[in-house]
Amino acid sequence: MLIVGNWKAYVDTLEKAKRLYAAGKRLAATGRHDIVLAPPAPYLGFFSAANRSNVEFAAQDVSRSPGGAATGETTAAAIASVKATYAIIGHSERRAMGETDAMVLAKVREALRCGLTSILCVGETVRDPEAKYLAHLRAQIAAVYEPLSEKERRGIVLAYEPIWAIGKSAQDAIQPQDLNEMVLYIRKVLTEYLPARTSAKTRILYGGSVEPANIRTLAEGTGIDGFLVGRASTDTGAFGALVKALS
Ligand code: PGA
Repeated sequence: MLIVGNWKAYVDTLEKAKRLYAAGKRLAATGRHDIVLAPPAPYLGFFSAANRSNVEFAAQDVSRSPGGAATGETTAAAIASVKATYAIIGHSERRAMGETDAMVLAKVREALRCGLTSILCVGETVRDPEAKYLAHLRAQIAAVYEPLSEKERRGIVLAYEPIWAIGKSAQDAIQPQDLNEMVLYIRKVLTEYLPARTSAKTRILYGGSVEPANIRTLAEGTGIDGFLVGRASTDTGAFGALVKALS
């Protein structure tokens, strides 16, 4: 499975970042799962450039700008230059700060152009009884996939992160049966943009209150290929327990 630890802005000392990186390396060394860490930008540069372990690195965001006069932006090229291999794009916390589908598309394009695999986050705010959330999800996926070439579409990992489940606890996460339905739905949408064999290979992650207590049930029989873990990835004990629970 692909496990991405999204540290968000939870980590703000180098000491803590080092401890989490060391724990990630130990988990990655077993080779059982692909471990990707997404630290805040300063730690990403600090660790990733010198990384010789099985851990891979992701940026939490990338700039739409290819570079130049864009103060405060971190370009995909700069991220790739420190040997990070993934970029989380369109996280709901970035969308809540004003990021539109058009901006998300531009970021995905820029990340792919620089050789980064895009972890494209999609997800509904609420699960309404009329199931309008399905159309919302389809629209988020279409906004990015439609304008891209087939080659570009293949460079995307989809992270399904229902906003109502983010940042809470295990009992608030999605139920395994509902997750299974969502994975099937997303796979169906993907067949509109990729040939069947290729779309089946697109990795789909789940994110939203993944903890050691629920990761196993969310992994079994749901068709999911991995997890995007926020809060629990910033506690060495919880992250270790969570990855081990999968083995
Ligand atoms: P959480 O965050 O695990 O803290 O719910 C997941 C995410 O937002 O990526």
